[in-house]
Amino acid sequence: MSESDAWKRAAAEIAVAEIEDGMTVGLGTGSTAAHFVDLLGQRVAEGLKVRGVPTSEATASQARDVGIALPAIEDIDQIDVTVDGADEFDAELCLIKGGGGALLREKIIAGASRRMVVIADHTKFAAPLGAFPLPVEVVPFALSLTVGAMLNATRFVLGREIDIKLRMTSDGRAFVTDGGHYIMDCFCERIEQPEALAMALAGIPGVVDHGLFIGLAAKVIAAGPEGVQTFGA
Ligand code: A5P
Repeated sequence: MSESDAWKRAAAEIAVAEIEDGMTVGLGTGSTAAHFVDLLGQRVAEGLKVRGVPTSEATASQARDVGIALPAIEDIDQIDVTVDGADEFDAELCLIKGGGGALLREKIIAGASRRMVVIADHTKFAAPLGAFPLPVEVVPFALSLTVGAMLNATRFVLGREIDIKLRMTSDGRAFVTDGGHYIMDCFCERIEQPEALAMALAGIPGVVDHGLFIGLAAKVIAAGPEGVQTFGA
């Protein structure tokens, strides 16, 4: 296991210890969340009873493979805790998510959860946010008009021009999310006012949602060479 994977797993091990019998658990997406799903599957094999709510088709597939029960989403009325990764987090527990293209389902599930716990390696800490390109999920219709509105919004909030790029797959096609949308990656570099940018992007009709998660995470568990650091509670 690489050093980075060992950190991700160490954070996931702490998060999985919080899971109790009978809980409904939101299951994040990405390489860090995959460690959590794997470890939760081990506890289920040992007798833990939980219900999982996956944030992507990829996570649903992994959860089924490790034996986590996945009720139909329509039958879920309450989620006790969601454990997910992040592309960046800051000291106020604001996040950038969506590097894996699952931000919409991730935000729906996190927003419906009593508690969101983020697991990460220490390299995800950012002050300010924004070195990681901000993913924005958009409808394919009238893409150039939506991108024009996004350029105006980011210029207004950030006070400068940025690059916005359509996310592509390795074989040269537009990346399509589980919801059938596109992802525009916004190369902001620095986001000094995440709340203002979040509001400006959310107000654009063609934008389905953006990867700024503000006021959602209760705790970030970050592991690195000096051990595990916890932000929040
Ligand atoms: C998925 O859309 C993302 O929000 C992931 O949670 C995020 O990209 C973190 O992924 P890693 O754990 O693979 O870095």
